[in-house]
Amino acid sequence: MSKPINDRKVAIIGCGFVGSSSAFALMQGGLFSEIVLVDVDRNRAEGEALDISHGMPFAHPCKIYAGDYNDIDDAAIIVITAGANQKPGETRLDLVQKNVAIFKTIIPQISERNYQGIILVVSNPVDILTYVTLKLSGMPATRVLGSGTVLDSARFKYILGEHLSVDPRNVHARIVGEHGDSEVAVWSTANISGIPIHDFCELRGHYDHEAAMKRIAEDVKNSAYEIIEKKHATYYGIAMTVKRICEAIARDEKTIIPVSNYQNGEYGLDDVVLSMPAIVGRGGVEYKVPAPFNAQELAQLHESAKTMKEVIETLDL
Ligand code: NAI
Ligand code: LAC
Repeated sequence: MSKPINDRKVAIIGCGFVGSSSAFALMQGGLFSEIVLVDVDRNRAEGEALDISHGMPFAHPCKIYAGDYNDIDDAAIIVITAGANQKPGETRLDLVQKNVAIFKTIIPQISERNYQGIILVVSNPVDILTYVTLKLSGMPATRVLGSGTVLDSARFKYILGEHLSVDPRNVHARIVGEHGDSEVAVWSTANISGIPIHDFCELRGHYDHEAAMKRIAEDVKNSAYEIIEKKHATYYGIAMTVKRICEAIARDEKTIIPVSNYQNGEYGLDDVVLSMPAIVGRGGVEYKVPAPFNAQELAQLHESAKTMKEVIETLDL
């Protein structure tokens, strides 16, 4: 028998760089009145909870504490940020064996409690681990999603905003596919407040579109590697991404964002999780948006799916 879901409660499994930064972002956002931190390193969870709690008088009342799996099965959202992160030179896919093994210890503890909320996977490789969570939990695909290329799309908007001297919130462009080296920059529909991207580039005096697209897409794809080389991990951008996705769910915003979600024939992609645009609300992945792609983007998407499937075939699920 599962407990009724508490809409004002979120749980974070894994309280390292990403999990603690996400807790900090969520506490500042005032979205939840209860944040439970779970980690195999209990001291870490307790220390992060104490540290963040001391800022409460400057933010919003929120009970934040270290807990275990008995404390989280009524959370509206369980965010999973547990696992190994990339060392310099490592790809996200290099983490798959270590982190699948960790997920095999985490997911059963959630599903055996007949969890009725939403799981948001962040650990890498996030598209693969979202697939693994789906398979291990047996939960409906609507209630298991990953942060996917929401962060990459934010980086895409930021870099384009800098290139064009325009507010990144007015840049409508996305990255889809793998949150990783095979990701796809969708240029064919990119626009600045409805003005096609190349037209806006020319308004700003940029005419060498091919060179700029290649450079910008590479810069987005390599962002994490650059940051990890400089400061050993990324965590603020992803923490703000986690907050944004939790807002869409907790406020039932019906936001269209490219979360990692299960593809069941869409675009000819079958039995694979990729970061694709979906309407995200209280029910999780509520509707998979049939986004338009040109032939090149669709071919790249299928390459991305092939990469994911090749990895999944090596797993013992
Ligand atoms: P970290 O090493 O700082 O923290 C990982 C935490 O997980 C540690 O506190 C560890 O004790 C905990 N942990 C390990 N096994 C656990 C288990 N079985 N149950 C509960 N907790 C457990 O690592 P960091 O930098 O926070 O990264 C965490 C994950 O997030 C990595 O896989 C990293 O690649 C991923 N990440 C994903 C991003 C995305 O855009 N999807 C962006 C940034 C990081
Ligand atoms: C990122 C990696 C760590 O920051 O997934 O995109």
